[in-house]
Amino acid sequence: KGNPKTGKGQGRHQTIIKQINSLKSNTQRQGKAENRKMDNLSISNYFYLQVLAACLYPALLEDDSLPLDVKQRAESLLRECDGGSVGSYTDSSGIAKIKHCVSQYITRRDGGVPSSPDNIFIKSGSQTIMLKLLIRSKDSCQTGVLIPVPTYASFTLALEEQGAAIIPYHLCEEQGWTLQVEELRKALHTGRKTCNPVALYICNPGNPTGHIQSRKSIEEVIRFAAEERLFILADEVYQSCVYADDTEFYSYKKVLSEMGSTISSTVELASFNSVSKGFMGECGLRGGYVELVNLDPAVKEYARRLFSTRSCPPVVGQMALDLMANPPRPGDPSFPTFSEVSEVFAELPGISCQPLKAGFFVFPCLHFPPKAIKWAKMEPDMLYCLHLLEETGLHVRPGCEYGQRKDSHHIRFNIMEDALQRLKTFHTRFMKEFS
Ligand SMILES: Cc1ncc(COP(=O)(O)O)c(C=O)c1O
Repeated sequence: KGNPKTGKGQGRHQTIIKQINSLKSNTQRQGKAENRKMDNLSISNYFYLQVLAACLYPALLEDDSLPLDVKQRAESLLRECDGGSVGSYTDSSGIAKIKHCVSQYITRRDGGVPSSPDNIFIKSGSQTIMLKLLIRSKDSCQTGVLIPVPTYASFTLALEEQGAAIIPYHLCEEQGWTLQVEELRKALHTGRKTCNPVALYICNPGNPTGHIQSRKSIEEVIRFAAEERLFILADEVYQSCVYADDTEFYSYKKVLSEMGSTISSTVELASFNSVSKGFMGECGLRGGYVELVNLDPAVKEYARRLFSTRSCPPVVGQMALDLMANPPRPGDPSFPTFSEVSEVFAELPGISCQPLKAGFFVFPCLHFPPKAIKWAKMEPDMLYCLHLLEETGLHVRPGCEYGQRKDSHHIRFNIMEDALQRLKTFHTRFMKEFS
């Protein structure tokens, strides 16, 4: 049983501190938006699984091994469900409280640019419902949508299914898959000969290209859309997967809001995000949202009616969205920090550890007393690992298996809170014994 206040030492529900891979870039690039840090810092990957499990099976709320913040979040989510059950229908555009949470996330992401829950529609997955709004398959002139080449194939298929004409524009590979407005202009000109282009689909950061647009590039695209009266469909599902140094994600919404009122209040935009990507990657849960910007009130009303022709999105997917939009923060029991790992090592004699930046493992250096080295008759880190295994059941790998400088010794350690405590106890005893 663990301490429900701190969430530490949990028994059955051991919290594995999964280090999502962009901590490195976060720590390197200082001054980034706070939400970015929150997205990617050492959030226990089990936090949201625990919350969802407790929502599905509320008896878990009585289990002492669940951290307090997990229980509180599950309880607050269940309060939003009719009958306190995930098995109930919700409003077809999503649970109001979760839409509010998403709008707050967007406001934080965009450094204060306001977002209204009224403009947020939660859907299963990200964007195909929007196409219904834009594409009129019965018109004599086909509705056209500009799409990048290469692109995310499902989007093209969805467009075809809706009867839209695809107007391809090529990304410039030689310049890192950049989006060139001249190419957009050319494509639009060609498209107008055969269809009625109404929308421009952007995938930023790009799939499959892995590119990310600069702020300047986004401004150019928005200006182009304003001139040509195109609706921008901004697929931004990879917004929290940004690794490159000196690179920042700018949302279309933020850039648009800072472009002067003639443009910022007129260009229509739909921005998509989803739990399928980002730090969650839970595509099977089917939780996504679209935020609509600058829609004519009548069109927004039509969108609302259109969206409500379908039943609500999956409730578990909606809850996942809430967790993505509002992950544990520093100080919450489910926000195990890396400093915690480093602090534990710093406290221990004969062990030193570089700051942990990414991945699932840590590779601390062990400074064995001469007696232990003499006694070992094998690589001392191997001896240490064998003893650790025998005494505690913990399986860690000796540094000699990975390559290390001569006369240095390490272990590769999988970062689990419970394991960390066991290692601590063992290590203290081991060092004492051989000192
Ligand atoms: C560009 C892009 N948009 C959206 C998605 C995910 O869509 P959904 O939210 O429907 O799972 C993906 C998944 O691969 C994608 O690559």
